[in-house]
Amino acid sequence: MGRWIGRWYRIVPSDELAMNLALIGYGKMGQQVERCALERRHSIQMIANGQWDSASLKGVDLAIEFSRPEAAFENVTKCLRAGVAVVSGTTGWNDKIPAAEMLCNELGGSFLFASNFSIGVNLLFALNKWLAERMNGQAGFAPELQETHHKHKLDAPSGTAIRLAEDLIQAVDRMDQWVIGHATAGSILPIEAKREGEVPGTHRVTYRSATEELSLQHVAKDRVVFAEGAVMAAEWLMGRTGCFRMSDVLNFNPKGS
Ligand SMILES: NC(=O)c1ccc[n+]([C@@H]2O[C@H](COP(=O)([O-])OP(=O)(O)OC[C@H]3O[C@@H](n4cnc5c(N)ncnc54)[C@H](OP(=O)(O)O)[C@@H]3O)[C@@H](O)[C@H]2O)c1
Repeated sequence: MGRWIGRWYRIVPSDELAMNLALIGYGKMGQQVERCALERRHSIQMIANGQWDSASLKGVDLAIEFSRPEAAFENVTKCLRAGVAVVSGTTGWNDKIPAAEMLCNELGGSFLFASNFSIGVNLLFALNKWLAERMNGQAGFAPELQETHHKHKLDAPSGTAIRLAEDLIQAVDRMDQWVIGHATAGSILPIEAKREGEVPGTHRVTYRSATEELSLQHVAKDRVVFAEGAVMAAEWLMGRTGCFRMSDVLNFNPKGS
């Protein structure tokens, strides 16, 4: 049985709902996704960990992609062109996601991207927007972001930190850009990106004034939370057509975000 993740994740799907999965990228996340998928009685039809051929997707219902920033666009578009639904959690390729989504729509395919599959982080996204809208009128508070990840992580800041930063900047009129490190003007949101040991992922949004400080923080305790979320997203995506985010899966914001 899977660990608890949302009310229905505990219920192992019946055999008719079991999927033939492809794992594109078989590093730390790919291997964790495999364990979670097998626990839920899905089968792994194909594993790619480097260059791969579209023909190997024959018989695959859905691909789960956790590879590298420079490989994600090609991996996702190969799945879409082969008519295979794809869930991608690779971070660091935000600039190409709109093109992948456009291709998905042109082909009538199924694509779900999430910079973070944890339920807690998706709640943090919602809380961050809520707080930023209220801080828009509080010019005495200066915002900052901090993220900490394991030392193997290739991209900095994390995709989650970028999403938090962009949502905050959109809501707070006095902020207009983010920077890694120190801000040289009040309109610049500083992001501190730390790389330490094997930390699965910690994100904190802080607002400081001269006299008080308010923070929102999420701590991932184990990377299994991301793998379980990716499998949950894959189960949700099966049978749906279009481009989706984790907020659609969790129904936090029915209009999407
Ligand atoms: N969305 C989320 O919730 C979430 C959570 C955790 C991590 N992530 C992201 O997921 C990605 C993978 O993380 P990870 O910890 O699993 O990294 P990892 O351990 O480095 O694994 C990535 C794997 O992809 C392989 N790879 C390289 N090029 C490929 C290609 N063209 N096609 C298929 N596979 C290829 C790599 O092989 P080689 O080592 O031989 O190059 C490696 O085994 C990162 O971008 C990370 O930030 C997202």
